[in-house]
Amino acid sequence: MPSLAWGDRYVSGNPTIDRQHRLLFDAFDALTQACAAGTNPAAIGHFVDICRDHILTHFNDEEAEMERIGYPAAKLEHHRLAHEQVAEAVLALVVAQNNGEIVTSVQALKAADLMVEHIKHEDAAFIAVARAAWEKTQAPVKAATGKIVEKPAGKPAAKPAKDAKKPAQVAKTSPAKSRKR
Ligand SMILES: [Fe+2]
Ligand SMILES: [Fe+2]
Repeated sequence: MPSLAWGDRYVSGNPTIDRQHRLLFDAFDALTQACAAGTNPAAIGHFVDICRDHILTHFNDEEAEMERIGYPAAKLEHHRLAHEQVAEAVLALVVAQNNGEIVTSVQALKAADLMVEHIKHEDAAFIAVARAAWEKTQAPVKAATGKIVEKPAGKPAAKPAKDAKKPAQVAKTSPAKSRKR
């Protein structure tokens, strides 16, 4: 079973990425514990939805940050494919519950394991490259979805204009619908 305890070894130094990674650990921990405890299906379904929302939001934002710092195209494409594999495992849980099945511990742990391994390996490789850019600009990642946005230091958050575009919606069923290629 993967360790779903957040630890300092996962800290990237980017406040938004760190917050989102921590949310992912917490969400998958809640899901796997609910499955192991045989919590009622509605509660498990609730945690599945939370995992899906957090993971799709995070992948969108992380890929936007990769583009912002000029992460090499080949590495970005490799990372996108890795995101799709993790997202597919999470969306399989959504499909199972939409089909009236109860998500099992084995299914939940498989998705959690993929998420943890992704952060430990693919994200660590990205973070090693991105740190130099973050240290130069001191700019936190800008959330593409608008769900989590760090305020720039010393500046009040601007109010959005009335006719400003709404942030992109997180897809309920497919990562492809929610992510720009
Ligand atoms: Fe990633
Ligand atoms: Fe990540």
